Amino acid sequence: MTEMNLKHIAIIMDGNGRWAQSRSHERIWGHIRGSRIVSKIVEEADELGAKALTLYAFSTENWSRPVGEVTVLFKLLKKFLLKERSRILKNNIQFTVMGDTSKLPDKTKSLIASLEEDSKNNTGLMLTFAFGYGGRDEIVQATNKFIKENPGKELTEELLQSYLLMPQLGDVDLLIRTGGDQRISNFLLWQSAYAELYFTETKWPDFTRGEFRKIVEFVSKRERRFGNICSSDLESSKLMAVENKETITNL
Ligand code: FPP
Repeated sequence: MTEMNLKHIAIIMDGNGRWAQSRSHERIWGHIRGSRIVSKIVEEADELGAKALTLYAFSTENWSRPVGEVTVLFKLLKKFLLKERSRILKNNIQFTVMGDTSKLPDKTKSLIASLEEDSKNNTGLMLTFAFGYGGRDEIVQATNKFIKENPGKELTEELLQSYLLMPQLGDVDLLIRTGGDQRISNFLLWQSAYAELYFTETKWPDFTRGEFRKIVEFVSKRERRFGNICSSDLESSKLMAVENKETITNL
């Protein structure tokens, strides 16, 4: 198997509410069904050879949703932690929650802390739930922390990166959004600067391991230039440089 070039995959799991409403159910039913997909996608990411999978489970903006819906999302997180704990540990996965978890119930907070602690030395997939997370908030927090710790020093890209919530995750290689909308919605803003973007119409509860695999295979074949030009053009431009010297001088 060739080495996977998409090391960090991030997913905006969108479309739960519309999935339920289109079936004449309440929105929360969509979240419940959507939560069942999460572990399958984690398994697939691991099998595909990704190093990190970051899932947007609850944004800073989601606080404005009805209390009942927020409570369901909290409960689904707790259920996931209880149900998946042993599998996460058995599969050498390193689990972390990134964001503001202060408003979660104490029991859920302690389940998170215990799984983070028990999986911290695992060397396999880094699984991160972004919960109570916002990309702008993360950048502001990182900047403020830097200023406080380094008065008078100039901030660089490398330094800001090192002050993010989880610098070890690195840049996002592939950002997938389900549910048909084509937005980033304040997710991993700094880390996605050069991410490949993929938007699927499939709503999260209908998303499958098969579709995930196809997206990864499709995007792996894209050429990523990171602001440069493609390698074959680079070679021919080197050859032409000598001939063009005169033209450039005369510009
Ligand atoms: C967006 O759908 C989804 C969320 C706000 C939450 C994502 C949560 C899950 C997939 C389930 C939680 C699972 C765990 C394990 C924490 P939406 O409600 O915005 O859908 P819509 O765009 O159709 O309204």
